Amino acid sequence: MIAPSILSANFLRLGEEIKMLNESEADFVHIDVMDGLFVPNITIGFPVISQISKVSLKPLDVHLMIVKPERYIKEFCEAGSKIITVHYEACSHLHRTIEQIKSFGIKAGVSINPHTTVKNLEYIIREVDLVLIMSVNPGFGGQNFIEFTYDKIKELSSMRKQLNLSFLIEVDGGVGLHNAAHLYAYGSDILVAGHSVFSSENPKDTIAKIRNLRQ
Ligand code: DX5
Ligand code: ZN
Repeated sequence: MIAPSILSANFLRLGEEIKMLNESEADFVHIDVMDGLFVPNITIGFPVISQISKVSLKPLDVHLMIVKPERYIKEFCEAGSKIITVHYEACSHLHRTIEQIKSFGIKAGVSINPHTTVKNLEYIIREVDLVLIMSVNPGFGGQNFIEFTYDKIKELSSMRKQLNLSFLIEVDGGVGLHNAAHLYAYGSDILVAGHSVFSSENPKDTIAKIRNLRQ
């Protein structure tokens, strides 16, 4: 599956970009919310997400790069999120926050930064619907993929098998046609792609190409 990240979309033509995604093979629309604290960048919030949810035919996959996300889960649900992913590093009471997300009847994800080990997820893994592995340091689109991410995907994928669980594995950052086949082969289910999709000549085509690299 593929979740194009609108961080690299043209915000002046956001409606048209969402329409393009509607007509594409995208499985989700990935929305990056940044607060200028957890990451050194600020992006968008509820009003924009609500507007997107009115025109998007694809489910909204909302990636919260904000501290203490438990303050705003209700608002992000009401804005139309179908998946909410919070960062392991941003939550003091991660278990409670995951339960809070699920109480709204939507999917709950946890994300880990490049320096955070997969082992840290041991006691939360049974509760989540999705694990998002950051393959760049979060904050910006268009960065280079960090190579040791492959080992983390392999480790998480074998943990999933061993425990007989079915959470989805999503990978975010520096993903494109050059590495998508490997990422799927190592056990990723959803690839987030921003720069590689929106800076390509034919984004719809690139979405289809990346998606179809899954064997
Ligand atoms: C980075 C964001 C990503 C970003 C990926 O902090 O979480 O979703 O949009 O962008 P690319 O695909 O350009 O690396
Ligand atoms: Zn993201």
